[in-house]
Amino acid sequence: MLLTGKVAIVTGAARGTGAAICRRFVDEGATVVATDVLVDEGQAMAQKLGPQASFAALDVTDNSAWEATVGGVLASHGQIDVLVNNAGILHIGSIANTSMETFRRVVDVNATGAFAGIAAVAPPMSARGSGSIINIASIDALHGMNGLSAYTASKWALRGLTHAAALELGRSGIRVNSVCPAGGNPGMYGPWGTQLMKLGPGLTSYGSNRAIPREASPDEIARVALFLASDLAEMVTGADIPVDGGHLAGDYIEGFDQMSADI
Ligand SMILES: NC(=O)c1ccc[n+]([C@@H]2O[C@H](COP(=O)([O-])OP(=O)(O)OC[C@H]3O[C@@H](n4cnc5c(N)ncnc54)[C@H](O)[C@@H]3O)[C@@H](O)[C@H]2O)c1
Repeated sequence: MLLTGKVAIVTGAARGTGAAICRRFVDEGATVVATDVLVDEGQAMAQKLGPQASFAALDVTDNSAWEATVGGVLASHGQIDVLVNNAGILHIGSIANTSMETFRRVVDVNATGAFAGIAAVAPPMSARGSGSIINIASIDALHGMNGLSAYTASKWALRGLTHAAALELGRSGIRVNSVCPAGGNPGMYGPWGTQLMKLGPGLTSYGSNRAIPREASPDEIARVALFLASDLAEMVTGADIPVDGGHLAGDYIEGFDQMSADI
């Protein structure tokens, strides 16, 4: 049991990766407050996890909602040990097809929302002299990709925020790390799903050239979040941990290692 006695807040937890993180944390003994804008789904998810989990509605872009959530968790549980900034939205579209409003919305949820969360939990964590903040970024926080200008900018911002916060809060006993997955809930691709299927080899090669040629599942990401939340990661801060099956290691070329010649 890696998280016995710890209290965690997870954002964007009604489904997908956030829900998988809640499940792992509860299994390891944590008390979990799952939050999301999807209230019915979030409540049902938390109920399934039993008495160690509860749900609170939270739009991460709403600063006063953050204050209310953190105040509520402190009133009910007395402490906050872990914050997982997992809430996120995607936009796929060329720069020409990305309005200023969309760009701002993506950055607002994915980066500014996490900043608001860090600002809200830092005082009670500092008062206790310990805490772990985990930002679920993306492989798109480590490289660029056409069609993802808003999403990529938001995730690079989140990774930059991770480093700055790690430096600023380290002396208060708070660790801040980012997890950078290639994969998660395929449901996130919602409106683009059918169009993506039509891309064919261009899209297939994106995943199939990896050392492990597939996407990460929500639970595979949750297991890395679990490590960072636990005291096993005591000396780990300011890190960006890829959960990408070796995507960034380079390209696997079928047959390249089967060639031979004398030199
Ligand atoms: N799905 C992928 O392929 C993938 C890849 C890399 C990184 N990620 C990241 O992983 C995280 C989790 O995504 P997922 O894959 O589980 O997809 P998901 O769409 O299932 O989860 C995102 C959750 O965030 C919630 N959310 C959206 N806006 C919110 C807001 N303003 N306030 C609070 N909650 C809000 C949604 O309701 C949803 O439950 C996201 O940060 C995402 O960017 C996903």
